[in-house]
Amino acid sequence: MTDTRLDKFVSNQTLLSRNDARKAIFTGRVKVNGETVTKIDFKIDTKNDSITLDGEDVVFEKYVYLIMNKPKGILSATTDKNAKTVVDLLPDIYKKRNIFPAGRLDKDSTGMLLLTDDGEFAHKITGPKHHIEKAYIVELDGEITDDVIKGFKDGVTLYDGEECVSAVCEKIGNTTARVILTEGKYHQIKRMFGVYDLGVNELHRERIGALTLPNELKEGQFCKIDPQILTKN
Ligand code: URA
Repeated sequence: MTDTRLDKFVSNQTLLSRNDARKAIFTGRVKVNGETVTKIDFKIDTKNDSITLDGEDVVFEKYVYLIMNKPKGILSATTDKNAKTVVDLLPDIYKKRNIFPAGRLDKDSTGMLLLTDDGEFAHKITGPKHHIEKAYIVELDGEITDDVIKGFKDGVTLYDGEECVSAVCEKIGNTTARVILTEGKYHQIKRMFGVYDLGVNELHRERIGALTLPNELKEGQFCKIDPQILTKN
């Protein structure tokens, strides 16, 4: 059983501030299991009690997991003084929950980005120990040779001496590749191709773990997911 105060619950799970949640409770707009409750510190069981506000269910979500199709020009960050961030694209209900991007895509990259308020899960998805695959479609400014493919498989040593673990570079056109990484170093794909004097023109993440970005999710759109799907093999 998970006990929490009614005012805290209503505020956390809706757009209401804590004060407005209290007002809603005082004024009889909140029911617990069908009974109006006007005590703001009334204890509820978030697993079993049913709560309504103005007759609408208030559903308990401990954490939220979203995937977004990140557009170009948007930062993978929560806030920024100058640029628009992926969190700026979310409705207020999510901003209020302190959702952040788990893992990054460069400002000029597009595709699948996970956003959550579950820090532990974010760590699991992004941490190198967990080897969650991330697949990207990459458009280059030159031809992909067998050397590049072999080099990625053997593990690229970046210009600064940093070693990358084995990665897949699958040629799907003369200058287009699908790259599969199990780690996420800063600008990793750009730096890996840089070793072979290839520049990245376009970079799109199509998959994280077992979940492929749905075609119907247009740039800037997001949807909720079951997080377990990302860690399935
Ligand atoms: N590697 C990069 O260089 N950029 C990205 O956005 C993702 C992976």
